[in-house]
Amino acid sequence: MTNLAGKSVLLVISGGIAAYKSLELIRLLRKARTEVRCILTKGGSEFITPLSVSALSEHPVYTDLFSLKDESEMGHIRLSRDADIIIVTPASANLMAKLANGIADDLASTTLLASNKPIFVAPAMNPEMWAKPSTQRNIEILRSDGVQFIGPAAGEMACSETGLGRMIEPQDIFDALQSYFKLSTPLAGKRALVTSGPTYEPIDPVRFIGNRSSGKQGHAIAAALARAGAEVTLVTGHVSLADPVGVRTLHVETASEMLDACQSALPAHIAVCAAAVADWRVENSADQKIKKQTGASTPSLSFIENPDILAEISKSPNRPDLVIGFAAETQDVVKAAQEKLVRKGCDWILANQVGKTDNPVFGTDHNQVTLVSRSNCDEWPPLSKKEVAARLVEAMISHFNDTGTKHDDKPISRPLSSAS
Ligand code: PMT
Repeated sequence: MTNLAGKSVLLVISGGIAAYKSLELIRLLRKARTEVRCILTKGGSEFITPLSVSALSEHPVYTDLFSLKDESEMGHIRLSRDADIIIVTPASANLMAKLANGIADDLASTTLLASNKPIFVAPAMNPEMWAKPSTQRNIEILRSDGVQFIGPAAGEMACSETGLGRMIEPQDIFDALQSYFKLSTPLAGKRALVTSGPTYEPIDPVRFIGNRSSGKQGHAIAAALARAGAEVTLVTGHVSLADPVGVRTLHVETASEMLDACQSALPAHIAVCAAAVADWRVENSADQKIKKQTGASTPSLSFIENPDILAEISKSPNRPDLVIGFAAETQDVVKAAQEKLVRKGCDWILANQVGKTDNPVFGTDHNQVTLVSRSNCDEWPPLSKKEVAARLVEAMISHFNDTGTKHDDKPISRPLSSAS
């Protein structure tokens, strides 16, 4: 999997004979499991059709700022906000001039002006146009504004003149984007294991004992780790969330199955146990549905203890460098988390208070946690679960930077090929 997996790219295709090369770029990005949304300018649509762009990107193509249909499907502000980066291929002299001078008179230029994301351009134009002082002035402005140039290359042009101005090949653009994301993916080379959701412990084939975990917190952590470049395995109990993009997801039901799946995902550098695992399972679960019989006594269940997955991971010979648990408590949250940290042998615990009627945590989009380590307690403000995930990943990145534990100077003990 490349470090483009799970990223989102907004591709602006402006007018020029090289527009057809954008189709190949879309294909390469989709193959790398990158989300691609496209804006096709009026000039661009003289060279390639919206239908081919839409078919390859698997999304509608946006063409017109003043189209009610385009704006209602995805407004131009959101188009620029949802992407990780924006890339213009080919970048015509005209579109570069607009971008350099803040002109917003169509969907592409307006979206670029409204953008708060890194912008890349792959220019394509006749060598004389490229060399013109006006174009060179615009290039200077764009460079000083932080726009990043990929190319152009020198060579023979479609107009049969030779010189600088050819659009760089799609594979080279793809490689440049990969390098960019490598720099912005500080956990590249790290393997991470995340548990999420509830476990279901069967009473009989139709009934089970479960809990209220929705998986939102665990899934958000898996997605945030993947965005930071880690190779993530998510082991999840039954939830109604989609599998996060770019994350290997293993679906399990019981605590025992969760333990097996986690062990199959080791060795790893990081483990985060956010699942709400049942502490006990039913010892006398039935193979057939327990029937209600008139006059018979109500069935009674006996329980045995489930394996503690977090504790097992912490004492595994393949122990990850950083083992993180959660503590879900209804009272004395931090004290209980400190005890669990020691008892379960992990490095950090995120303590969260559950069961509050005003903010139940289970199933909602928000959380309020205290990060407990052996030497410190850091109370975070109320945040969305996605923000908790992002902040936790930031803390992991700082931890690895501080300890200097790089993936290549502390090799994991078992070959990766035998791990899954
Ligand atoms: O899923 P959401 O709706 O988004 O809700 C998020 C959450 C409340 C489930 C999450 O933030 C959380 O607190 N997860 C841990 C829930 C839990 O089981 O806490 P605990 O205090 O009982 O367990 C402590 C730690 O041991 C946890 O990391 C847990 O995953 C782990 N554990 C517990 C029991 C067990 N048999 N095996 C384990 O690995």
